[in-house]
Amino acid sequence: MRPLFSPIHNYLAKYSIAGGGLLVLTLLTLVLIFPRTSHITRVGVAVSQPVPFSHKHHVSGLGIECMYCHSGVEESPYAGVPATKVCMTCHSQVWTNAEILQPIRTSFATETPMKWNRVHDLGKFAYFDHSIHIAKGVGCESCHGRVDTMPLMWKEKPMQMRTCLECHRNPEQHLRPKSEIFTFGYKPDEPQEVVGKRLMQEYGVQPYNLQNCSTCHR
Ligand code: HEC
Ligand code: HEC
Ligand code: HEC
Ligand code: HEC
Ligand code: HEC
Repeated sequence: MRPLFSPIHNYLAKYSIAGGGLLVLTLLTLVLIFPRTSHITRVGVAVSQPVPFSHKHHVSGLGIECMYCHSGVEESPYAGVPATKVCMTCHSQVWTNAEILQPIRTSFATETPMKWNRVHDLGKFAYFDHSIHIAKGVGCESCHGRVDTMPLMWKEKPMQMRTCLECHRNPEQHLRPKSEIFTFGYKPDEPQEVVGKRLMQEYGVQPYNLQNCSTCHR
C-alpha cells in the first residue's frame, strides 16, 4: 500500500507549518510591536517648529507659568496654544531684531496665526478633556514629562489607549495635591499609596467608569 503521506508531503507540511508560524509572527510584529516603536508613536522625538520655541528657556530660565500661554487647561478640554500677541508682549521689547523670530513678527503684522506643528494629536474617535484631570489632581508632568527641560517639545508617552488605561486602572498611584499640578520633579512627602488613597477621597475620584469604552469613545 502507498503511504498516505509521501516524504514530499511531509516536507511540504513542515514548511507550511514553519511558513504559517512565520506569517503569524510577522503579523504580530506589525500589529503589536511596530505601532509601539518610536517611529510611529514619536516618543522622545523633538518636533521641529517654524520658530524654535524653547520651553526649557521660557519655563525654567525665565520662570513663565504654563497658564500664561496655555490658559484653557483648567477650564476646558483644550490647553490651547498661545496667540502670537502673547509672544509679542515680550518680543516687541526683547530680541526684536532676531532672525529666528521673524515668523512671529510676520504673523503679528499680518494677523495670520502661527502654524505650530502638533506634538500630540489623538484621533477624533477618542475623547480627552484636560480640565477634569487638572481638577482631580493629575499633574502636567504625569502625561507630558519634564516639559521644563525640553528645548523643543517631544511626546513623553505614546498617548495610545494603553497610556490612558495604565492610569485609569490605578489612578491612586498618580494623584498629587492640586497645589502641585504645575510642579515638575514632584515627589510626595509620604508614600504615594497614602497620598493617593487620601486624594481619591478628597477629590471624589470615581474609578468605576474609567475603563468603560464610552468614557473615551463617545
Ligand atoms: C511663553 C509661552 C509658553 C509657556 C510659558 C508654556 N508653553 Fe507650552 N507651548 C507653547 C507654544 C508656542 C507651543 C507650540 C510649539 C511647541 O510645541 O513647542 C507649546 C506647546 C506645548 C505642548 C505640546 C502641544 C502639542 O502640540 O501637543 C505641551 C504639552 C505644552 N506646551 C506644555 C506646557 C507646560 C506643561 C508648560 C508649563 C510648564 C508650558 N507648556 C509653558 C508656549 C508656551
Ligand atoms: C514673558 C516674556 C516672554 C514671552 C511671553 C515670550 N518670550 Fe521668548 N524670550 C524671552 C526672553 C527674555 C528671551 C531671551 C533673552 C535672552 O536670554 O537673551 C526669549 C528668547 C526667545 C527665543 C530665542 C531662543 C531662546 O529660546 O533662547 C525665541 C525663539 C523665543 N523667545 C520665542 C518665543 C515665542 C515663540 C513666544 C510665544 C509663544 C515667546 N518667546 C514668548 C521672553 C519672552
Ligand atoms: C491625563 C493626561 C494629561 C495631562 C494631565 C495633561 N495633558 Fe496636555 N495633553 C494630553 C493629551 C492626550 C493631549 C492631546 C489632545 C488631543 O490631541 O486632542 C494633550 C495636549 C496638550 C496641548 C496641545 C493643545 C491642546 O489643547 O490639545 C497642550 C498645550 C497641553 N496638552 C498642555 C498641558 C498642560 C499645561 C498641562 C498641565 C496643566 C497638561 N497638558 C496636562 C494629556 C494630558
Ligand atoms: C495619570 C493618570 C491619568 C491618565 C494618564 C489619563 N487619565 Fe483620564 N482621568 C484620570 C482621573 C484621575 C480622572 C478623574 C476621574 C473622576 O472624576 O472620578 C480621569 C477622567 C477622565 C475622563 C472623564 C471621565 C468622566 O467620568 O467624565 C476622560 C474622558 C478621560 N479621563 C480620558 C482620558 C484619556 C483619553 C486619556 C489618555 C489620552 C487619559 N484620560 C489619561 C486620570 C488619568
Ligand atoms: C481612558 C480612555 C479610553 C478607554 C476607557 C477606552 N479607550 Fe479605546 N482608545 C483610547 C485612545 C486614546 C485611543 C488611541 C487614539 C489615537 O490613536 O489617537 C484608543 C483607540 C482605540 C481603538 C483603535 C485601535 C488602537 O488600539 O489604537 C479601538 C478599536 C478602541 N480604542 C476600542 C476601545 C474599546 C472597545 C474600549 C472598551 C473596552 C475602549 N477602547 C476603551 C482611549 C480609550
